[in-house]
Formats: sequence, structure tokens, C-alpha cells
Amino acid sequence: MRIPDITIAVDGYSSTGKSTFARLIAKHFDFLYLDSGAMYRGVTLFAQEQGLIAPDNTIDPALEKALEGLDLHFGQGTVLFMGDRNIEKEIRTMEVSSQVSPIAAVPYVRSWVDDRLHAFAASGRVIMDGRDIGTTVFPNAEVKVFMTARPEVRAQRRYDELVSKGEHPVFEEVMKNLQERDYIDSHRETSPLRRAEDAFELNNSDMGLTEEVAWAEGLIRGKFGLLDAPEEIG
Ligand code: DC
Repeated sequence: MRIPDITIAVDGYSSTGKSTFARLIAKHFDFLYLDSGAMYRGVTLFAQEQGLIAPDNTIDPALEKALEGLDLHFGQGTVLFMGDRNIEKEIRTMEVSSQVSPIAAVPYVRSWVDDRLHAFAASGRVIMDGRDIGTTVFPNAEVKVFMTARPEVRAQRRYDELVSKGEHPVFEEVMKNLQERDYIDSHRETSPLRRAEDAFELNNSDMGLTEEVAWAEGLIRGKFGLLDAPEEIG
């Protein structure tokens, strides 16, 4: 049975598998998937290219005005574009990862991104992942999931992802970057990462993707009373 046109918010720490999970659910239930972290990464790449963020993470206040001329949008499904340039690969490098949390802590950056996220999701039937989707961006989302996993499991996932993309990461650096991002993301003043009171926690340290989808399907269908009748036996 088709589930209604709702909004699903998926939040959690870095590398807990939010985007893999959200993509699968989007495919399974025919939803639009939106990756809010990609937008913060896009703004970070922009700030770096414009020379508006220093190596010590000092952000030039000129970034606020410069954002007025920035066009970030999703095309070809979930690929991020800056104007007509595909920046999907560049926003996933360690260089961008290492400066994205300070950028995402800036209030005017957050409101710039939030405006765009609301516009992208205007048609409904959306699953969005990030850090503050269930608390700030869509506080009324009908279904909220908060994802966690043990730090060493998360660092290994991130490490494997970087290797598969041809990078040569050092495991300890990946772990350090994760811990730094966790700290900044959950201690910033504006919309810190935290579990919404009505979110369901999913710790997927020891779970496979099939199990995660089954868990979400039970959660969503259960919520809407759409559980299929049990099969008859005999
Ligand atoms: O999910 P990700 O690792 O691609 O996110 C990159 C960074 O963006 C993350 O360190 C924190 C920030 N972020 C945020 O502050 N709020 C969101 N809704 C999504 C991401």
C-alpha cells in the first residue's frame, strides 16, 4: 500500500550512513531525496574558491554578501551543481570536510541554506538528511529518525568511502575529523545537532542495509496503520 505524501527527517552524526539509508528509503517508497549536508559542503567549496575562509577557519564577513550571487541546486537526481558546474566530487574531499563545520555554524549561512531546502522540498513527499532537519528545518515532519553508530564503525565507513573515491586518507585523521565535526556540530549555538524528542533512534553499528530498510518500513507503515495483513498459514 502506498504511504501518504509526508516529510521524513533523518538526522545524526557524521558517517552514520544517513544518506545511504535515506536514498534507499526514497527509492523504496518513491520519495524525493535531498541531502542538506551537500548544501553546506557547496557553500564551503564556494568560500574556499573565493578566498573567504582562511586555513585557520576564519571566515571573511564578505561571505554573507557573496552568497547572494551563489546558485547551488540539485540536478540529475541528487547531484549538486554550482551554476552549471557539477561539484559533486569536489564537495566530498577531505579539504571540504575539514572546513564545513565552521561554515555550517554561521547563522546567515544556515538561513541561506534553510531557505533553499524549503523551496526544494515544496512539492512534498520528501526525505531529507542532515543535522537539524527534525529540529529546525522540518520540525513538523511526520517521521523522524535519529541515526547513531559507534565511532570506530563510522570512521571505517568514511575511510572506505574515501579510498573508493581514489583518495589516500590516514585512518587517524579521518577519525579526528569525525570527532571534531561531531563536537562543532553538536555544540554550535544555532541549530545544534540533537535528537528531536519525537525522533526514533536507529543505531546501525551492527545492521545491514536490508535490516535498516525493514526497520524503517515497519516504523512508517506502523505509524500510518498501513501494515499489510499477516500472511495466512496453512
Ligand atoms: O552530512 P554531511 O557530512 O555531508 O554534512 C556536512 C556538514 O554540514 C556537517 O559536518 C555539518 C553540516 N550540516 C549541518 O550543519 N546541518 C545539516 N542539516 C546538514 C549538514
